[in-house]
Amino acid sequence: MTSIEKMNIGVIGCGKISSIYLQILQTFDILNITACADLDMERARTQARSFHIPRVLHVEELLADPEIELVVNLTIPSAHAEVGLATIAAGKALYNEKPLALTREQGHQLLAAAQTQGVRVGCAPDTFLGSGLQTCRKLIDQGLIGTPVAANAFMMSHGAESWHPNPDFYYQPGGGPLFDMGPYYLTALINLLGPIQRVTGTAKITFPERIITSEPKYGTKISVNTPTHIAGVMDFVGGAVGVLVTSFDVWSHQLPRIEIYGTDGTLSVPDPNTFGGPVRLRRAGENDWRDIPLTHGYTTNSRGIGIADMAYALRAGQPHRASGALAYHVLDSMQAILEASTEGRHIVLTSTCSRPEPLPSGTLETAWSDDNENH
Ligand SMILES: NC(=O)c1ccc[n+]([C@@H]2O[C@H](COP(=O)([O-])OP(=O)(O)OC[C@H]3O[C@@H](n4cnc5c(N)ncnc54)[C@H](O)[C@@H]3O)[C@@H](O)[C@H]2O)c1
Repeated sequence: MTSIEKMNIGVIGCGKISSIYLQILQTFDILNITACADLDMERARTQARSFHIPRVLHVEELLADPEIELVVNLTIPSAHAEVGLATIAAGKALYNEKPLALTREQGHQLLAAAQTQGVRVGCAPDTFLGSGLQTCRKLIDQGLIGTPVAANAFMMSHGAESWHPNPDFYYQPGGGPLFDMGPYYLTALINLLGPIQRVTGTAKITFPERIITSEPKYGTKISVNTPTHIAGVMDFVGGAVGVLVTSFDVWSHQLPRIEIYGTDGTLSVPDPNTFGGPVRLRRAGENDWRDIPLTHGYTTNSRGIGIADMAYALRAGQPHRASGALAYHVLDSMQAILEASTEGRHIVLTSTCSRPEPLPSGTLETAWSDDNENH
């Protein structure tokens, strides 16, 4: 394999999620984290010290740095579009944390600006590139459950104010369980079943006010400005009917994360907020569930694999998997579920996307080596 030129990346947003990114990104040969930035310079300095990032810069300085080719935007959802547009305007590739943006208009603006500038947009989540969800993809593509008929997905908890140090954004537009956790579930479903054609749903706010019980803001009230219990129905272009319930209003439940029902069997899909298993299968006529050995690499937390894949794809001039088009389709689906609830109808989506290419088994490096055509 010929050696591939490393890509210099800059990270904007050095809050809670940045630690795992700063740790994992350094494990990919192609990536070189050269700088980090945050509105709060002290946070950026702390993370730079902990993860040996050579430079701490102001956001504008990072964007003006000609050596940085790709910016990883780990700011809060309400800043995703602004920081993303500034990144694109600086001529750099952009990888946003999820959601891509708060609104379709912002999402569209990001993709249009990137097209004009000739730069790429990528977006989290990238858990669908992990071993568990890639194993599921392979089983479905091999026809093990026949033609997918339906899917049920449930993400229900009691919210983030008991553990996140700064949980306000979870209860503002762009947060809530649908925008916060929905991207993992919808991205997983779209990767497995293809794009969505139309949606409907019901959404509500159960508790208009929340009280933080984590430190350092213990006792602070949060006013809830986005739905916290959302039941969505999705008709996939391929014919499957999906149900997605996301909630921050539920103390406990016994429902699966994701199940896919096919004409020839049922697939139990692992938590799409993780990279590993278990993957379980029960085909028509079988008496019990079977644990399926994982067939792919990346069984443990590999947040950032989508960024490494994007870097390899850029160097190879090929499409990357955690793409802006996929994230926009997810954003469009989530917005449409909320609108369907307000308007009391089905909403036909105007966006679509193709299923990302499956990953071959083995490492990303091998997948993108120039003697491997199986990108
Ligand atoms: N915390 C998690 O467990 C988790 C998990 C997966 C994904 N995410 C996603 O990661 C993103 C960040 O979440 P977090 O939990 O790290 O939030 P956080 O509040 O802990 O950190 C966000 C950081 O971004 C900085 N910031 C905000 N606006 C900025 C701007 N305009 N320019 C520069 N810096 C800015 C803040 O100062 C803060 O340090 C969100 O999109 C969230 O959905 C979080």
